[in-house]
This record gives sequence, structure tokens and C-alpha cells, in this order.
Amino acid sequence: MLRTPLCDLLGIELPIVAAPMGPSISGPELAAAVSNAGGLGIVSFGANPPPLLRRLVERVRELTDRPFGVNYLLPFTIPEQVDVCVEQRVPVLSTFWGDPAPYVGAAHDAGLKVLHQVGSVADARRAVDAGVDAVIAQGAEAGGHVAGGVATMVLVPRVVDAIAPVPVIAAGGIGDARGVVAALSLGAAGVALGTRFLATAEAAAHAVHKEQVVAATEEDTALTTMFGGGWPDAPHRALRTPFVAQWLGRGQQDDQPVIGESSFAGERIPVRRFSKATCGCGMLERVATRRPRWSRGMIDVRQACVRRGDQRHLPETW
Ligand SMILES: Cc1cc2nc3c(=O)[nH]c(=O)nc-3n(C[C@H](O)[C@H](O)[C@H](O)COP(=O)(O)O)c2cc1C
Repeated sequence: MLRTPLCDLLGIELPIVAAPMGPSISGPELAAAVSNAGGLGIVSFGANPPPLLRRLVERVRELTDRPFGVNYLLPFTIPEQVDVCVEQRVPVLSTFWGDPAPYVGAAHDAGLKVLHQVGSVADARRAVDAGVDAVIAQGAEAGGHVAGGVATMVLVPRVVDAIAPVPVIAAGGIGDARGVVAALSLGAAGVALGTRFLATAEAAAHAVHKEQVVAATEEDTALTTMFGGGWPDAPHRALRTPFVAQWLGRGQQDDQPVIGESSFAGERIPVRRFSKATCGCGMLERVATRRPRWSRGMIDVRQACVRRGDQRHLPETW
């Protein structure tokens, strides 16, 4: 079994984190499946109203008795939402895009660990000054919102050196065991995989979304601000669909027509054109649906992290 100091810090067996990917993808099923398989699942429902958030935390607990986290996008977070996780003793608070300092003290007092995701050495240092327990260093290859402009290969060792001995988790473009091994060799204590877990049976993403991510190659994503409705000036990596390609370079698109409906916080909400984005890194060959041979949970982390035929890149004990 591959163990690193991150495993001891978080009480997990494998240094693999399911990176949060928004409430419509990273729900209780995905998080619990990853946690049950020995990694750390993170759910993305931190932005829900406190009563609903409480129920969702209970739902995760019905599915797993192992450590898991709840993610908060700090520009959209109010203290009452974080209070829920603190009261409920959710093992891990995961934060992104902003200053985690206001939440670290209460989280630690309640025994929670805090992971903060950054895209630069300066932000990593600030997060450590704020007292976080580990830093997720997100390279510019990452899917979803991208905090910095430096590639994972360069950013991770820089952050590792800057904040040692605080553990660093590498994120961005990691899709198979070779990426995991590479991240560890750069000094990371673990990895956070988003896109790879998007294409699993347990992720709540739409089937078409999953298939498109699986079909995408490494050249099929684009970094853009066009889906910035409600979150301006925040670059994100999206699938370069023909539609996206047509609009690329025109920047953020506001005042768009309603093109569909979604649900948030238990309510139906209209979806405007350009209000949702997806991602993809070209490292997936199929949606992972097979039940595990080796893990206790529903998801096979090994299967999810290792492309078929690439087993030779795994450490022998995996
Ligand atoms: C579709 C999608 C949505 C995301 N939404 C969030 C989010 O809500 N909160 C967050 O902290 N990170 C979010 N991320 C970023 C991930 O935490 C992580 O940095 C990224 O997935 C790592 O890169 P990878 O997708 O290449 O594995 C999202 C990523 C994806 C792919």
C-alpha cells in the first residue's frame, strides 16, 4: 500500500483526493465511494443553505464512515455555511479561491483539517500563514476554475520547497498512475484528481458530459472566461466543443438567454447560456463503471487512476 504523511494527516489509506467539481458532479455518492476505497472524497455542496447542507452531510455519513471533506468556494461562502461542517465535525474542510484564514481557527478547535487549493507559491505561503494543514497546488492544466498560470510540473516542486514541511497535494492534469508517481516524485504528498473522477459511474455529471470528457484528447480543452456568469474574471478550463471554439476569445458572456433548467439548494433554477462549463484532459479511455476487485467501496480508485494497460507504471504494492 502506498502511504505518505498525507495519509496519516487525514486518516486515509491512499494519498488520493477526489477534487471537488461543483455540486452537480461531486455529490455524496462520488465522495463516499472514493472515501470507502481508501482515498479522500470531497463533496461540493458547501454553497447550500445550512439546513440542506446539514442533510447532505448526513447523507454522506450514511454512505461512508470514513473521512471525507466538504468544499467551499470562498467568494460565495458565508460563515453560517462553514459553521455546519464545524458543528457536524466533518473531517476535512476544503477551500478554494480566497483567504481561508477566517475559518481555520474554528475548524481546528473542532478537530477538522483544512485543505486550501492555490495556483501560486505566494498563495501557498499565505495559506500556510493562515494555518491550513495541507495545500493543494493546482497547475494550469486543471479542469474547472484555474487559479494560476503555472504548469503542475513546475508549480508542485516550487510549492513543496516554499512551504515544507506542510504537505502538498498536486492537482491538474493527473489522470493515471504515471501522473501519481510523477507528482510524488516532485515532492507532493498526494494527488487531487478532478476530471478523472468526473468520468465515473458515481459522479453526478450528465452521461453526455462523461462521454465527451472520455472522448476528448489533450488538445480538446480551452482556458477561457466565457462561462463567467456570476463569477467574473475567473478563468476556467472547458471542453473545446464546436460551440466553445466558435465563441473563444470573446471573453465573458453576460446577459445571455435562458437555455435550460437545473437545480440548486433543492430549487429549480434557470440556466443561462454560458453559465456552466466542463473540462477534460484527454487521459481517459472510458467511463469507469466496473465494481472493484480490491476495494471495499463502490469505486475502484485503482481503476479510476490507471489506464488499462498502464499497470506497469504502478508501484508493485498497488
Ligand atoms: C468540472 C470541474 C468543476 C470544478 N469545480 C470546483 C469547485 O467547485 N471547487 C473547487 O475547489 N475546485 C473545483 N474544480 C477544480 C478541482 O478542484 C481540481 O483543481 C481540478 O479538477 C484538478 O485538475 P484535473 O481536472 O485535471 O484533475 C473543478 C474541476 C472540474 C473539472
